[in-house]
Amino acid sequence: MPDPNPRPVPPSLDRSRVPRHVAIVMDGNGRWAQRRGLARTEGHAAGEAALLDVTYGALSAGLSTLTVYAFSTENWRRPVDEVRYLMNFNRGLLRRRQHELHAEGVRITFSGRRDWRVPKGVLRQMDEAQELTRRNRRLTLNIAFNYGGRAEIVDAVARLVADQVPASKVDERAIHARLYHPELSDPDLVVRTSGEYRLSNFLLWELAYAEMVFTEVLWPDFRREDLFDAIVEFQRRERRFGAVDS
Ligand code: IPE
Ligand code: IPE
Ligand code: MG
Repeated sequence: MPDPNPRPVPPSLDRSRVPRHVAIVMDGNGRWAQRRGLARTEGHAAGEAALLDVTYGALSAGLSTLTVYAFSTENWRRPVDEVRYLMNFNRGLLRRRQHELHAEGVRITFSGRRDWRVPKGVLRQMDEAQELTRRNRRLTLNIAFNYGGRAEIVDAVARLVADQVPASKVDERAIHARLYHPELSDPDLVVRTSGEYRLSNFLLWELAYAEMVFTEVLWPDFRREDLFDAIVEFQRRERRFGAVDS
């Protein structure tokens, strides 16, 4: 199915200066549901439409990569019923959407730990979506699932040790090469929804020089126009990377 509701990229967005990689903390599902007198899980369900719409927005704006935070290494602390719901929901979302995303040229990848806590069926579905879409090049949709920024750095350091890298050869490149997706550029822009102003262990290494945009919009209400607004805001920023302007 092609974009079910195509809308144009606004002229205020400079098409020649779009960020290559945008990362999003998809937050506020529970509050969205509670405000409607619904169970928190209904908020997660409503987040699916937001993710699809934003992915179409990323395609039309011409991003290379969209990384979305779907489940953190700390989210296991939630009630078992909510965790179980999120596992099933994410598997279902992939099953429902992988062919549509594949048809659009989206490559689906994952960042996170494949540990014993993730049900086998979920891992199988993740592998299927990744395999199906691995040759696509229009957009990489990288789903951070059972992801923690500290865990990613720990895993990279463990690999350094396993690779017997001597201390004199440990540098940023050596660590970067052992992150979950060294082939992806660092996010230029990170967006967090729902009026929370923190990273919550998201991409700690990769966000070192990302521009940050925060919005009050709750994730289930977020649409491509909100992504476009964030990109326009990004384009107003001056990135210096520690240098001074010439
Ligand atoms: C984000 O929404 C989704 C996940 C963390 C899985 P929340 O479930 O955190 O919603 P709030 O922040 O409680 O409203
Ligand atoms: C971050 O949101 C994780 C995801 C969006 C998947 P949380 O809702 O878990 O973060 P905290 O607990 O408010 O920091
Ligand atoms: Mg939250």
